Amino acid sequence: MAIKLVLKMGDSRLLQVAERVETFDTLEFKTLIQDMQDTMEAENGAGLAAPQIGVGLQVVIFGVEKNSRYPDAEEVPYTVLVNPVVKPITQSMEEDWEGCLSVPGMRGMVPRFSRVRYHGFDQFGKSIDRSVDGFHSRVVQHECDHLQGILYPMRITNFRMFGYTEVLFPGQTLMEE
Ligand code: NI
Repeated sequence: MAIKLVLKMGDSRLLQVAERVETFDTLEFKTLIQDMQDTMEAENGAGLAAPQIGVGLQVVIFGVEKNSRYPDAEEVPYTVLVNPVVKPITQSMEEDWEGCLSVPGMRGMVPRFSRVRYHGFDQFGKSIDRSVDGFHSRVVQHECDHLQGILYPMRITNFRMFGYTEVLFPGQTLMEE
């Protein structure tokens, strides 16, 4: 097990487009998944994309369990998603606060498609195809943006709604992704 350093905004590796995973059955790939799981757990993250630990491959993980630390958090099934394709299934957008492990200590109001369909593969190469809404839809759009070199501040339309978590939400611990 290995907890990796999460790259922070400003690092050019976060701006690159990630490459597809071609082979699932390698020690290197299994180690990557384990490292991402260990890192997300250590950081109490809701999601993590491989480029955030400096690996330019199309791999994201996300998931939120019911947790007394985050009583308002919506549950999202724990998912490893490889080579994802995300498509909106509505043009309607929703705005909500987001944070990111690569932009620590900040929150911004980000518009996202309210419903998306995504497909890809789990870590064993098994197909995943889901239509989702709510926080599940938001987190998958956030994570898959990382694979295109996009960080959530690039999606903010109203910069009056961007700031430090400790100022915007005093006394609260909020998950980052
Ligand atoms: Ni992020």
